Amino acid sequence: MTVQLPKGTRDFYPEDQRIQNHIFDTWRKACLRFAYEEYEGPMFEHLELYTGKSGDEIVKQLYNFIDKGGRDIALRPEMTPTLARLVIQKGGTLKMPFKWFSIPRLFRYERTQKGRLREFFQLNMDIIGSDSVYAEADLLVGICSMLRDFGLKPADFVIGISSRKLLSTFLTELKATDPTAVYPVLDRRAKIPGDIFLAELAAAGLAAEQVVRLDAFMACKSIDEVKACIQSQDSQAALQELEDLFTILAHAGVSESVALDLAVVRGLAYYTGIVFEVFDRGHSMRAVAGGGRYDSLTERLGGKKVPCVGFGMGDVVLADLLSDRGLLPTTGPTVDFYLVTFAGNMPKLFEVAASLRNAGCSCSHALAPAKVGKQMESANIAGASRVIFVDGDKAPPGEYEFKNLKDGTQGCSTLDQLIKEVQP
Ligand code: HAM
Repeated sequence: MTVQLPKGTRDFYPEDQRIQNHIFDTWRKACLRFAYEEYEGPMFEHLELYTGKSGDEIVKQLYNFIDKGGRDIALRPEMTPTLARLVIQKGGTLKMPFKWFSIPRLFRYERTQKGRLREFFQLNMDIIGSDSVYAEADLLVGICSMLRDFGLKPADFVIGISSRKLLSTFLTELKATDPTAVYPVLDRRAKIPGDIFLAELAAAGLAAEQVVRLDAFMACKSIDEVKACIQSQDSQAALQELEDLFTILAHAGVSESVALDLAVVRGLAYYTGIVFEVFDRGHSMRAVAGGGRYDSLTERLGGKKVPCVGFGMGDVVLADLLSDRGLLPTTGPTVDFYLVTFAGNMPKLFEVAASLRNAGCSCSHALAPAKVGKQMESANIAGASRVIFVDGDKAPPGEYEFKNLKDGTQGCSTLDQLIKEVQP
């Protein structure tokens, strides 16, 4: 019997890990450029961190178990509750506002499908302690900038922006009896057939004429169209916030990448204000990222109320999108030097390799005496930029024969000179 890969998980052979590293490196560089600081937490938490707020789809997707001490434990399905716990734990000692990021490995017992696995990675960027819409703007500009780093253009993706607050005030205008039952239905709108959608809205307590008004509201494509749909001052205030956000985003030069999209509702229960999701243009894939403002999560978890906003971007759909656009790196392994011996002089290989590595260069060589042709083949496979022949007889004392595999040039040189040439 062969042991198989668990469903919804992935192996990362070196060629896959290279791609993963490229994604992580690009994420990390962009976060640091926007002055977010990196943090981490445990991969498992007490189950109640997730079930305490309940009602979420995510609770049904938990990988949980009882540990040997009899504790209810869950593998983390998302980072946000952990972040809220970190904030609560430090109480008032954290200087707010602050901007943090993390790249956690997450686990969800999902129905596996394209873009959705049971184990995946997710970049999280969050701003804690700011209730201003400029925090949303900082995150959204960050997303655009980072997607540009990957080589994506505004024609490749769009960030749909909406407001839970606006939806909530509109549902109040509609006199919906149970607004919290309506959100999950709206969130599934694109995923379920129209008749089921209407039946679910009815089950959530909406009468036919309320559904018609809600449908008209959800179809608005501009701030002005929404203005014509709403009446209450609360709705107007929530819309003003969206309008302010779009104005700032225009100043930051990312108007082309963002759009008002009231169909963005977000499945998670803790969002309280502006919400957004990143999609490929044409919406042919699942969301690349999603997030929004969650001002009451810390309070719901037993701490003080702290305004928070952030998002998660998964590695799976992002890699699919980059692959679709031909933007994934195709490079193999690389190494500065490959050392070749003509006479099977293994001690000399180790001696020269030690000098190169002490100087900070990467190098490789055969691990058993081998024919020169075989060693040259290994040099190519290793992606060496230069080969050094450690025991050639053409080099003057103190120098080595070398061959540059990138441009084909060859000659003799000192190790110091060769080292200088590969160092930035
Ligand atoms: P989420 O919408 O559940 O939000 O996930 C955000 C992103 O993570 C999705 O858009 C998708 O790219 C990726 N993702 C989610 N589930 C899977 C899966 N099963 N397989 C692969 N990728 C997946 C959250 O998790 C929020 N905690 C984000 C957040 C941070 N909100 C505020 N701060």
